[in-house]
Amino acid sequence: MLSSTIKKSDLIMPYFVIEGKRKREPIISMPGIARLSIDNLLKDIGELRKLGIKKVLLFGVCPPKYKDEKASYAYSLEGIVPQAVAAIKRELKDVTVITDVCLCAYTLHGHCGIVKSRVKIDNKKTLKALSEIALRHAEAGADWVAPSAMAKKQVYTIRKSLDKNGFKKTKILGYSAKFASNFYGPFRDAADSAPKFADRRAYQLDYSDLRQALSEIEDDIKEGADAVMVKPALSYLDIISRAKQKFNKPLVAYNVSGEYSFVKLGAKFGFWDERKMVNEIMASIKRAGADSIITYHAKDIAGWPKEN
Ligand code: PBG
Repeated sequence: MLSSTIKKSDLIMPYFVIEGKRKREPIISMPGIARLSIDNLLKDIGELRKLGIKKVLLFGVCPPKYKDEKASYAYSLEGIVPQAVAAIKRELKDVTVITDVCLCAYTLHGHCGIVKSRVKIDNKKTLKALSEIALRHAEAGADWVAPSAMAKKQVYTIRKSLDKNGFKKTKILGYSAKFASNFYGPFRDAADSAPKFADRRAYQLDYSDLRQALSEIEDDIKEGADAVMVKPALSYLDIISRAKQKFNKPLVAYNVSGEYSFVKLGAKFGFWDERKMVNEIMASIKRAGADSIITYHAKDIAGWPKEN
């Protein structure tokens, strides 16, 4: 386990869920991480829980044949995420389940919203789709939904729709300060969600703009977010630190796929010791002010022997 300030209860482990049975598809760009079918997902989360981590973040992977312009698979009753949530809640009751709410893995073009033209997002239609997705996840038993599309008013709209449908207790984690970052590369491979044209700068934040980042966090809090996020983590420790000082809400940092794969690949080449590197990274994110950390290292960390 980690030497200094990190507790297992601070960590959230992300998972990619696929259809089928007994599936474990290693993700080449993320050594040690695989896409799992629900049976294997339950096994893996069972191990994670035994190691002391009880919080997971789920991403659905959409079979290519179900992708369309409207991301229909994301909010269909047979969607993979609602099925996975229900299974976890049935078998591993005390695990806190957070679901990612976005369209990019489900649209043909790979953008996070319904596209009007290249690349203008139809915010109204996107909000409707996001609310439907969040509802499916809540119906299945998700404890938290985490909208990550960066659509305007997404937190407000989802909160309203959850309340109206009897899910007042389902919490919202806003991907509040989500930057248009190069560090998501491996994830897009994992979730098959890379944009087919243009990029995400039309809706994700400019990484040189501190003010905008803080105002997006403030907006999410006003819209009713129960917790807010800064993503990625390492190049954005200043934002984490400012947000911690400025706002009185649980603050989550997302140590994203590119940050993870750097460490893994460097360790493989013998550039550094993986555990020592992960310790330093986790301590720095905590030191900056994050209350929780979403990290693909979570399961590894939990299995490491305690340091003195
Ligand atoms: C979906 C989403 C992304 C990530 C989390 N949710 C990808 C993106 O915005 O392109 C990235 C996570 C990671 O890199 O680990 N919008």
